[in-house]
Amino acid sequence: MGIQYDEQKRMFKLDTENTTYIIGISEEGYVGHAYYGKRLGQFGGRYLMRMEEAPYTPSVNRREKNSFMDFFPMEYPTGGIGDYRESCLNVRNSAGSVASELFYESHVIEEGKPELLGLPASFGDADEVQTLRVVCTDPILDLRVTLLYSVFEKEDVITRSALVENKGEEKLYLEKVYSANLDMENREFEMVSLCGSWARERHIQRAGLHYGKQSVSSAKGESSHQEHPFIALVTPETTQSTGEVYAMHFVYSGNFIAQAERTHFDFVRMVMGINAEEFCWRLLPGECFQSPEAVMTYSDGGLGKMSRSLHDFYREHLIRSPYKYKKRPVLINNWEATYFDFDTQKLLDIAREAKKNGIEMLVMDDGWFGKRDWDDSSLGDWTVNEKKLTSGLPDLVNQVRELGLEFGIWFEPEMISRDSELYREHPDWAIQVAGREPGQSRAQYVLDISRKEVRDYACECVAKILRSAPISYVKWDMNRQLSDIGSACLPADAQGELFHRYVLGLYEMQERLVTEFPDLLLENCSGGGARFDPGMLYYSPQIWCSDDTDAIERLRIQEGTALIYPLSTMGAHVSDCPNHIVERNTPFETRGNVALAGTFGYELDITKISEEERAQIAGQVELYHKYYELIQTGDYYRIASWSDRYPWDCWEVAAKDASHALVTFVQVLAQPNMHNKNIRLCGLDAGAGYRLEGTEEVYTGEELMACGFLIRDLKGDFRSKLYHFIRE
Ligand code: DGJ
Repeated sequence: MGIQYDEQKRMFKLDTENTTYIIGISEEGYVGHAYYGKRLGQFGGRYLMRMEEAPYTPSVNRREKNSFMDFFPMEYPTGGIGDYRESCLNVRNSAGSVASELFYESHVIEEGKPELLGLPASFGDADEVQTLRVVCTDPILDLRVTLLYSVFEKEDVITRSALVENKGEEKLYLEKVYSANLDMENREFEMVSLCGSWARERHIQRAGLHYGKQSVSSAKGESSHQEHPFIALVTPETTQSTGEVYAMHFVYSGNFIAQAERTHFDFVRMVMGINAEEFCWRLLPGECFQSPEAVMTYSDGGLGKMSRSLHDFYREHLIRSPYKYKKRPVLINNWEATYFDFDTQKLLDIAREAKKNGIEMLVMDDGWFGKRDWDDSSLGDWTVNEKKLTSGLPDLVNQVRELGLEFGIWFEPEMISRDSELYREHPDWAIQVAGREPGQSRAQYVLDISRKEVRDYACECVAKILRSAPISYVKWDMNRQLSDIGSACLPADAQGELFHRYVLGLYEMQERLVTEFPDLLLENCSGGGARFDPGMLYYSPQIWCSDDTDAIERLRIQEGTALIYPLSTMGAHVSDCPNHIVERNTPFETRGNVALAGTFGYELDITKISEEERAQIAGQVELYHKYYELIQTGDYYRIASWSDRYPWDCWEVAAKDASHALVTFVQVLAQPNMHNKNIRLCGLDAGAGYRLEGTEEVYTGEELMACGFLIRDLKGDFRSKLYHFIRE
């Protein structure tokens, strides 16, 4: 049983297989936090809320309430009442004051997990997840706040969300609604986060926690290239396999904040939620607001254990697509092959050559519609450009299918070019502040998809194309961030809702798409990897990781991404050299080995590359088919990290039953006068023998894990090799 309530102690104990989370209710009715960490047998810990530390406790000493509020470990702190740490909820009443105070009212423990209205959220059957609802009220505001905790025992995950309801007669304004808070004592914590930019997303960053607030956030309208809705607090000794990790991740695709605050008492408050900047939600009497879901996990086995818990959790409880466990076709995308310069003939030439080499799907990228010969026009005009697709789209799709390939297509449904029929007809459909010329980015504006008629239009454009021909795959792109936030349809005191309404609109659009086309393989994308987040995974089982397809840059990007996402979600393609972004030359084999750690495909002009490179494609495709299941369902281990301190990079995927394991080794820089590198494997059966495929060498699992394996005969920069160990 995952959740227990002790009536006498007024405490809840939430257990997963390896962790325990304890909540207590104070004399006054505050919902406090007692413990999160390693699983406990005994149901105790009330002392951890320090309520005996009089003279502070308000019921004992009213004189010093503020001192109490400022150290009491709260489950869901509110603003304006003396807790000077970061609050999770700020409510402005119609008289203009910001203050709210929540008291426990009741609770319910139920099997399974409720859906979150209009939001992507994890799911599970009654035997996989239990949910605790703690109902709190602010009697002065007539506000009800329900704290939701869903406990996924097997994956060591607890998800959280808050439901805020206006039960009174007054209009209220929610100026901040976060999803999760975790108050703890500081254990010399360091903060791990993922940061970057376009073409170098999600690099791992780690730094000690200093006094004050440290956060990552986005106010760009999407989760962003730059910062990622994830943080982990780790103890100093934490490595891949040792140390404690407290992680929070956000199932949301818009503005967020993830913050750790070290306070004057050396306590730490960790929060996750929608960024309060430019957010204000008007809550009319009778209305409610649901915060997006935050995912928490604790590991006492280092970052590797955290990664594997999150991978299992997302695979099992967030991704819904029929492609979740279905083999995805090896695709070839024409973006880096042709950019905007293509026509039917060119695409068919690529498809023909691709088929000969075992590739299974052609994806037609940007440039097939309106008069889009460059990036400065036609978004919104989703009609086929018949100068390029001379015999029309259905004919092209049919010809590609006759060649034996499936067909996929690119869209950017949320956008509108300044130079488009749509903009000329509906200039007010672009997000903008009345009276101010909105800023362009890539010569485009953002559609105001908070408006139903705009969503209807964009959805119908996409659906009409998909109904016109047997199209198996859609790449849903988004190539700019939001600015000039204003909607022609929202009243003045609801303009602060636009950012969040935009995200809700996006979710509704993608829900419609996957509902009408249930067999579609959807890949989300945002100028590369700016919307790689758990919210998007609910709709698409894979997301384009980065516009940087250079195999060496990808090592860092994919390492950071795989820290929290399963490999099966990471869009990764082999592209041409010199690489279009960094102009680096890498061996074709290494480009293939790196892309195999993701969804695998090609992004090059297969008709133009050298014979020698083309000849390697069929073999790479074969490897993809051979290792697909292992990579999609296995346990991921990070063995060495080039971006951290080694001149090489190495990761392993081991089957859950330890029957085999695949190790990828990339020598980034060759070193002179060095002996063979020794790498220690993980996740094997210690007592079994493992044969290295292609050789007669047999090792015990124990020695591979304890003594390691020697990497031999790898000469030169950017060289790589796969090693497959099979249990005998
Ligand atoms: C950005 C994407 O990341 C690229 O793969 C490509 O689809 C371009 N947009 C097209 O404009």
